[in-house]
Amino acid sequence: MVQLTLPKNSKISKGNMFALEKNVSRKKTFKIYRYDPETKDNPRLDTFEVDLDECGPMVLDALIYIKNKVDPSLTFRRSCREGVCGSCSMNIDGTNTLACTKNINDVSKDVKIYPLPHMEVIKDLVPDLSQAYKQYASIEPWLKSESATEDGLERRQSPEERKKLDGAYECILCFCCSTSCPSYWWNGDEYLGPAVLLQAYRWIADTRDEATDERLNELEDSFKLYRCHTIMNCTKTCPKGLNPAKAISKIKKAISERT
Ligand code: SF4
Ligand code: SF4
Ligand code: FES
Repeated sequence: MVQLTLPKNSKISKGNMFALEKNVSRKKTFKIYRYDPETKDNPRLDTFEVDLDECGPMVLDALIYIKNKVDPSLTFRRSCREGVCGSCSMNIDGTNTLACTKNINDVSKDVKIYPLPHMEVIKDLVPDLSQAYKQYASIEPWLKSESATEDGLERRQSPEERKKLDGAYECILCFCCSTSCPSYWWNGDEYLGPAVLLQAYRWIADTRDEATDERLNELEDSFKLYRCHTIMNCTKTCPKGLNPAKAISKIKKAISERT
């Protein structure tokens, strides 16, 4: 039988222990992936004990507490703290999600935190999203309309037309979905992945946009779109409760119904 092993330098080693110096009633242990590109060391899993009475309720609060009080070299992205910027996405307790909306109490055992899976890691919990953003740019995510409006004013939509954007405009581009998709793991160089395809659908569904055909032509490609095999990991993991798999099937339907 073939035996598969990881390359030596990708094995995660046992990291440093940062224990609390006093006994506290609400102690929680965080195990956090660390990788420093400036050393030649393998990634490691550091352990931090945190007194929950000293920090806020969310996983992001604990990360900020650790960075401020224990180890300032801990590196992660965050901005809004409200689940709207998409920057604090990471793998917590085995699921891709947002650290700022994940309650520490929802994890019964130790809180294990890794960067989003299957991406190059820049440092600690920061993945390299350059390819994902290049793919996002490739769908030209802006309104394309050249015709003049009747009254020369803005392009209006009826409430029904506007409703077609529900379930798509709320996407915060956190890439939790794409990095949970096995097809994206293996073909991420060519397959656009659920996040970018949901965004592509957002413009296809927009009744003000006049480039629908051009957009569908671009997507009608065995790799860009048809690598989706409806595995549904994307929809299961989306922290905003969106359904990228459904958006992808709507794009496929729109392509198949073209005359
Ligand atoms: S439904 Fe498609 S996009 Fe979503 S996880 Fe499955 S293969 Fe990936
Ligand atoms: S669809 Fe959901 S998981 Fe995917 S990028 Fe948008 S908000 Fe994040
Ligand atoms: S910090 Fe903005 S989504 Fe978490």
